[in-house]
Amino acid sequence: MGYVGHRGSIEVLLGGLKRLEYRGYDSAGVAVLTPDGGLGSAKRAGKLGNLTDELSAHPIADGQTGIGHTRWATHGGPTDGNAHPHLGDGGKLALIHNGIIENFSELKAELTERGHTFASETDSEVAALLVGEAYRDTHDLTAAMLAVVNRLEGAFTLLAVHADEPDVVVGARRNSPLVVGLGEGENFLGSDVAAFVAYTKQAMEIGQDQLVTIRPGSVEVVDFDGNPVESRRFEVDWDASAAEKGGWSSFMAKEISEEPDAVANTIRGRVTDGLVHIPELDGLGDDVLRSIDRVLIIACGTAAYAGMVGKYAIEQWARVPVDVELAHEFRYREPVLSPNTLVVSISQSGETMDTLMAVKYAREQGARTLSICNTQGATIPRESDAVVYTHAGPEVAVASTKAFVAQITACYLFGLQLAQVRETLAADAVRALVADLQKVPDQLRDVIASGERIAELAHWMADTRSVLFLGRHVGYPIALEGALKLKELAYIHAEGFAAGELKHGPIALIEPGQIVFVIVPSPRDERSLHAKVVSNIQEIRARGARVIAIAEAGDVAVLPHADEVIRIPLASPFFEPLLAVVPLHFFGMELAAAKGLDVDQPRNLAKSVTVE
Ligand code: F6R
Repeated sequence: MGYVGHRGSIEVLLGGLKRLEYRGYDSAGVAVLTPDGGLGSAKRAGKLGNLTDELSAHPIADGQTGIGHTRWATHGGPTDGNAHPHLGDGGKLALIHNGIIENFSELKAELTERGHTFASETDSEVAALLVGEAYRDTHDLTAAMLAVVNRLEGAFTLLAVHADEPDVVVGARRNSPLVVGLGEGENFLGSDVAAFVAYTKQAMEIGQDQLVTIRPGSVEVVDFDGNPVESRRFEVDWDASAAEKGGWSSFMAKEISEEPDAVANTIRGRVTDGLVHIPELDGLGDDVLRSIDRVLIIACGTAAYAGMVGKYAIEQWARVPVDVELAHEFRYREPVLSPNTLVVSISQSGETMDTLMAVKYAREQGARTLSICNTQGATIPRESDAVVYTHAGPEVAVASTKAFVAQITACYLFGLQLAQVRETLAADAVRALVADLQKVPDQLRDVIASGERIAELAHWMADTRSVLFLGRHVGYPIALEGALKLKELAYIHAEGFAAGELKHGPIALIEPGQIVFVIVPSPRDERSLHAKVVSNIQEIRARGARVIAIAEAGDVAVLPHADEVIRIPLASPFFEPLLAVVPLHFFGMELAAAKGLDVDQPRNLAKSVTVE
């Protein structure tokens, strides 16, 4: 984050970093230009609280220009020394960096040869020293940054301040995020709008390979050749309070409670006369939607599981082949794409580097690209031909919850519109499905209201070392999602399996007492999947598993086979994932809480993974 204006910058920076901390919490630091013309900086390993303590114990003089950083370690461990900012030009320049500078070894050797010594093990310090050197030649921070950015390979957002230019912060970006917050007599830079939304909702995008210079009364953007560029402005569509914890015990608890609204808001404005019309798809045009002969969904982690649910629905309704692939695998295997392939990326942050690179690659290969994204001003939508925003609101807890149900909802809407355009579903069939989907937010409220039993189970299982999750059809990605949440939040071994796959190997894991969650399909499902899953339950119970079934209200057939049944309301079978996942989100959160772990900021993770 960067600030220049009329306020004390330390308070602005610490407030912004608090809201950005979910992006990385290995260390934190600030640098400010002090009233006496100097530069003060402080940095500490660990969470932001450590930096705040350090600043209380050893205050630095405050000024009205500064930069601040929270780190997710790549090069060099999470130590005080490796924390940002890094200094250059004899301590007069401070610089922060997100991303990875891939040619840092060569640059470090070059700097060492010129007599520089390094205070850290990071790739970032190389940039600080190079910009510092360039400043000695140019005496202009913008020019110094421009002189260096073209020498760096890899991904970076860099922000720098220099003691000789008291009212200036310069930022540069390549493949890492950076947005400007536009204030009155003050301006801001941030990795995302959360950094400054408490002060202004007016924002400006910074494109790839662009450099921005902010002063209290001006914002200038140039490309890496120094040519001025026009930048798109936008208004942030949520309030600072949306990214506050409010009275909740954690952001995750708050965000689970917002899952009904995330679904409702993603549907809102996209249904006309009972049929789906996503205005953002107008740019692609119906002819394109008709001519698509394949949909390829690319995403990572939870977003990829949302895509898997989408695959079942889109294929069924629009009769077009759909594949789902992890973005990092797709990118490096020379996939076969054509102009009739629609590559759909799904990303909450819109910044995940693996997904971004996959989208760029797909475009280079001639495919059309659609982004399903939750974050305005993010990079992936800008790199795509069209974007369907999920309106889940800002998601702060590192583990994705409300964005997941919003992503699935966006996939359903997309599948239904595709089916309408391609005439693979009759209008009445679409209307019936839309009406069912519109009921989901209220049904989700019911599921959330009965979360207590899950909390009891989680507390009872606090010492459990392994949990398995089984699902079939659209329940399979939900099993994977349930397992991922337990791994990342409660640090226990958890696996999700397609229930039919169990007998092909994983059933050997079952021993007496093994806890297995089973997402039970509706008995009303035409494919008789219910009976198949009940058979799978019998197979594992015969071997001693303790089964917790997630089953729809009124499913009595499952009762004799489960040790515990968590009920979800009756929904159209395709929409059950939205309801079934909520108890699993609760369970992950409650089990982590029962173990005394930080639910919002699990170890080793970051919310936006902006490195490959
Ligand atoms: C898990 C989780 C991650 C993200 C993944 C993709 O709870 O949050 O698996 O889903 O890192 O992130 P986005 O959606 O921002 O691209």
